[in-house]
Amino acid sequence: MMTKSRALFFFFLLHILARASSYRTYDRDSLRAAPCTETIWESNGKTAAGGNGPGSALNQLNSSYGIFVDSNRAVFVTDYLNRRVVKWDQGALSGTIYAEGLCGASDLGDLCYPSAITFNKAGTLFVAVENGSSGSVMSLKKGDTLIKTFITANTSIYGIAWDENEEYLYLGHHREHRVDKYTKNGEFVKVVAGGNGLGPALNQLDYPRGVAVDEYGSVYVADSGNQRVVKWMVNTTAAVLVAGGNGVGNRTDQFNVPGGMIRDKNGTLYVVDERNHRILCILENAKNSVIIAGGHGQGSASNQLSNPIYLAFDNEGSLYVSDWENFRVQKFAVAVTPSSASRYMYNPSTWTLIFGILWLLVSSTNFSK
Ligand SMILES: *[C@@H]1O[C@H](CO)[C@@H](O)[C@H](O)[C@H]1NC(C)=O
Ligand SMILES: *[C@@H]1O[C@H](CO)[C@@H](O)[C@H](O)[C@H]1NC(C)=O
Ligand SMILES: *[C@@H]1O[C@H](CO)[C@@H](O)[C@H](O)[C@H]1NC(C)=O
Ligand SMILES: *[C@@H]1O[C@H](CO)[C@@H](O)[C@H](O)[C@H]1NC(C)=O
Ligand SMILES: *[C@@H]1O[C@H](CO)[C@@H](O)[C@H](O)[C@H]1NC(C)=O
Ligand SMILES: *[C@@H]1O[C@H](CO)[C@@H](O)[C@H](O)[C@H]1NC(C)=O
Repeated sequence: MMTKSRALFFFFLLHILARASSYRTYDRDSLRAAPCTETIWESNGKTAAGGNGPGSALNQLNSSYGIFVDSNRAVFVTDYLNRRVVKWDQGALSGTIYAEGLCGASDLGDLCYPSAITFNKAGTLFVAVENGSSGSVMSLKKGDTLIKTFITANTSIYGIAWDENEEYLYLGHHREHRVDKYTKNGEFVKVVAGGNGLGPALNQLDYPRGVAVDEYGSVYVADSGNQRVVKWMVNTTAAVLVAGGNGVGNRTDQFNVPGGMIRDKNGTLYVVDERNHRILCILENAKNSVIIAGGHGQGSASNQLSNPIYLAFDNEGSLYVSDWENFRVQKFAVAVTPSSASRYMYNPSTWTLIFGILWLLVSSTNFSK
């Protein structure tokens, strides 16, 4: 016969099983595997833009380059070979054209390709364009239709980053092996990294890609040809090595073309490791990286990437990856946040509940004798 305490026991048992099953794949070891941050992302991504093969229909990309996610979690993508910026609202099955004619009034069409992208807090779009043998950063104010030349560069800007207060804009000039600093009005200030030709010395860069800047104005550069990430502090003439620099490879101290890069407020760097088809995080002062997405070989399965280029985060912490050769943007939602992880692992109330159940089990056994 079912006693009251037995019924209670089954109720609590079900409750515990339900709780435990929602955490079942995340044990202490898997949390330890991500020392950069307590966050763990789902290993299977969901497609947030594209994913319908290469093409120019509004549900396709040809292909995804720079990406940015706004506060409504809409994804903005530079659709490189279609020469446009498209916007995919959260959950949308196709995009809308946000900007085209990206080289302005003088757009020569098949010479004008957009690469890196960012927005400022006022919602102005900044998009780097290659334009034949020249190149520029174009700007488009929110609500405007007129795209304007913001900075006339040379060509191929693959890294674009505002500082925290949006006082300065930093551009990685890919083929000129340097990073330049500009005012918020687009005036050149100075070269802040590289500028000493292509090479492996610490005062040189080799095709810089992603660029990030910290609160002190230090510039972090994904130095793609040198397979390393370097840090250039303000007013210094050479970099310090942050990670990599150990040749091409897929060890945790190596890269195979570091690309897009973001730095968070804790000093953690998030780097696209393009030809290793993985996304890495690197804790401040750590020499080794940790894989946070991909890393399952090149492919189009939901846990794979194929020559990813850029990354972005939304305001829920989801990671977005511009997955170039899959013609899509993948979204990796947060699986375990610091708060849910610590509730599961350390909160004594879970253990109180377990001991309560054990007590019920013992007492109900006694009662039924
Ligand atoms: C992608 O763009 C390239 C260059 O414009 C073009 O040759 C190719 O046909 C496009 N692919 C598709 C499927 O539209
Ligand atoms: C694009 O290139 C053309 C031809 O060189 C040039 O006239 C035009 O000013 C360029 N536009 C931009 C935005 O760089
Ligand atoms: C523009 O690019 C050319 C060719 O790579 C280079 O010689 C020149 O110095 C660059 N100019 C600037 C201002 O970076
Ligand atoms: C860097 O140099 C500039 C110009 O000489 C100077 O105004 C600035 O204070 C210096 N900044 C630091 C952090 O040394
Ligand atoms: C920074 O670290 C703190 C303390 O470990 C953590 O609570 C917070 O989520 C971290 N922030 C980011 C952006 O990772
Ligand atoms: C890492 O590189 C080694 C040596 O090239 C290779 O055998 C291995 O498959 C690679 N691992 C992944 C996950 O790509």
